[in-house]
Amino acid sequence: MALPDGFMWGGAIAANQAEGAWKEGGRGPAVTDVNRYRPEADPKLYAIHHQNTVASITEAMNDDDEVYYPKRRGIDFYHRYPEDLALFAEMGFTVLRVSIAWTRLYPTGEELEPNEEGVAFYLAFFEEMRRLGIEPLVTLSHYDPPLALALKNNCWLDRSTIGLFERFVKTCYERFGHLITYWLSFNEIDGIIRHPFTSGGLIEETVEGNFEEACYTALHHQFVASASATRMLREMWPDSKLGCMLTMLTTYPNTCHPDDVVATQEKERLLYLCTDVQAGGAYPRLALNLLERRGVTIPFAEGDAELLAEYPVDFISFSYYMSMTESVRPDAERTPGNTILGVKNPFLESSEWGWQIDPIGLRVSLIDLYDRYGKPLFIVENGLGMRDEVTDDGRIVDPYRIDYFRAHFEEMITAVDEGVELLGYTSWSPIDFISASTSQITKRYGFIHVDMDDLGRGTMDRRRKDSFFWYQKVIASNGADL
Ligand code: BG6
Repeated sequence: MALPDGFMWGGAIAANQAEGAWKEGGRGPAVTDVNRYRPEADPKLYAIHHQNTVASITEAMNDDDEVYYPKRRGIDFYHRYPEDLALFAEMGFTVLRVSIAWTRLYPTGEELEPNEEGVAFYLAFFEEMRRLGIEPLVTLSHYDPPLALALKNNCWLDRSTIGLFERFVKTCYERFGHLITYWLSFNEIDGIIRHPFTSGGLIEETVEGNFEEACYTALHHQFVASASATRMLREMWPDSKLGCMLTMLTTYPNTCHPDDVVATQEKERLLYLCTDVQAGGAYPRLALNLLERRGVTIPFAEGDAELLAEYPVDFISFSYYMSMTESVRPDAERTPGNTILGVKNPFLESSEWGWQIDPIGLRVSLIDLYDRYGKPLFIVENGLGMRDEVTDDGRIVDPYRIDYFRAHFEEMITAVDEGVELLGYTSWSPIDFISASTSQITKRYGFIHVDMDDLGRGTMDRRRKDSFFWYQKVIASNGADL
């Protein structure tokens, strides 16, 4: 059992959850800046991402405070990245997945020229990564559409956003392309159906007609924008690669009752819709029919089908946190997962947030995806959000985190042994930062602890957890020493 030489090991973060400095360097507001933390609420209720109304957005923008809008402060990665990159290098990272905030380069999304301060920030950042021998894996859009576009025209619902995004992508390729080989277009592109504000800038109350159709329209626009990003990359940097990114919600039938099996099949048909389009180059007929029965028609413009067919992605990346279970019984007990509610699987343990832990599901996911598309895969998110305690002597003893990763690595290696082509693995997240769904920092994912509580109190000092040294050993042995 061994991973191939050159297998990339590292971690993954996103600008909106890490950088902070939301008003510095000419950055414009992004949708995540108005996602409010609600400490009084039960975190288990946060199965679905923040919904926003025009009133809640106006209220948020009139409030300059960072306390209840934690993504505005992040973990101050904007200023502290040299120290954080040095810690990642110390763990032995050969890859780091990051995202570029669209509003650092184009504050409202509509400027004709990029904000040079934003360009200078990312240039210095990527150069530092290269200097440390860390390969950047760069997501062009990770949950941060410009707020101005959301308010103007529901952002990705409007076809004109494709052109604005192309301008942003072209700038990224022109200014950073010499430092980057691996790109991802949209983080968890399927997520726009479950959290349309955060992924697509859609404000439901301002959308007329069938809202589900609006979400699929916005998704279609992202598919087109992604294929266009691939086309531009081929022209400008032919040796670079672009991947898609899917929330891998592998789904099991709750029982062998054929009704449960059919319901599961339907769920998976829509799950694979995104990779069918982005890796396969076309919408599958059965998924289109299924959507049509729900009143959803995809708004193809002239040339869309050809663009999707001609520019499929080079590799498939995905996040994997848990498997899902499907049942037709309305009274089946449910539990939250990654922006979704699913039926509770009695064979699995759950975290405090209700997310079920299923390492074998990672193997199933890898095998299913590779079998279906035959393209190289990249695991770009996987991890466990837990509370941590700092001991009196300043240690963070986190065997639960080590156990989680060890079990997932074993399954990952088994899948590679069976023949799956896997480019690399980036954990989510190597350093504690703001949770996407709950805006907590106390839902900690990192190998590196950040001294801050949910209300922003603390020094923000970084500290190595026990798992830091364990992951360092795993990387040094290329997965042989778990
Ligand atoms: C993924 C997202 O869905 O899950 C990340 O791409 C997110 O942005 C991660 O942070 C974990 O979810 P959460 O809600 O625990 O932060």
